[in-house]
Amino acid sequence: MATPADKRSIAIPIATLAIVAAFFTVGLVVIANVTRERIARNQQAWIKEHLDALVSPQSYDNDPLLDITEVTAPDLLGTAAPVTAYRMRKAGLPVAVAIRSIAPDGYRGPLELLVAIAPGGQLLGVRVIRHNETPGLGDAFENRDADWLEKFRGLSLTKPPQQRWSVRRDGGEFDAFTGATITPRAIVKAVRRTLEFYQGNEDRLYQDGKPQ
Ligand SMILES: Cc1cc2nc3c(=O)[nH]c(=O)nc-3n(C[C@H](O)[C@H](O)[C@H](O)COP(=O)(O)O)c2cc1C
Repeated sequence: MATPADKRSIAIPIATLAIVAAFFTVGLVVIANVTRERIARNQQAWIKEHLDALVSPQSYDNDPLLDITEVTAPDLLGTAAPVTAYRMRKAGLPVAVAIRSIAPDGYRGPLELLVAIAPGGQLLGVRVIRHNETPGLGDAFENRDADWLEKFRGLSLTKPPQQRWSVRRDGGEFDAFTGATITPRAIVKAVRRTLEFYQGNEDRLYQDGKPQ
């Protein structure tokens, strides 16, 4: 039978173990929270960098990272999931919307785009913010043809006309990359569809969930 001395000798290591376990659990929760916040901050900074490259921060006076709306349009935005649209306004008036649409049919999977559009439907610019295309081939927009994305600036659904909104190989106006037509075809199609979505939803894009 265990004597009181035996019980004490067992209780002490158990209590020590419990305290150490509690200490580490609290530590892990704190680290997880700090890490989550840091990741969120980094993602916000990353998307802001892309936004700044498309729309001059001097042209608006709101915070587009807070002035967002989620929109869903699988056929036009390339995904069944909701995508984020960032709104930019000056004195409350619309300046631009940047939509994170998807080009679903890249060579190695979907590409995520940021498509900035001015009121009326004119493109302010396009960035590819995530992709998995083949280095040296499908990613030419990042190096070999670094100005390729620049050519979208100023275009709209009527410029060029809709039937010319494709790569040259398909009878359109847009250059492909040497030896790689699939990626630019996917991007051109996704940008055109994003413009179509914008055209049908301009008012809603600026109104939905508008911050008071
Ligand atoms: C290993 C490998 C990777 C490829 N990666 C891409 C790519 O990322 N993007 C792309 O458009 N084509 C890529 N291609 C080429 C396509 O298979 C296809 O031939 C090309 O897009 C068609 O364009 P073209 O008609 O101008 O040759 C790749 C081909 C190979 C063999």
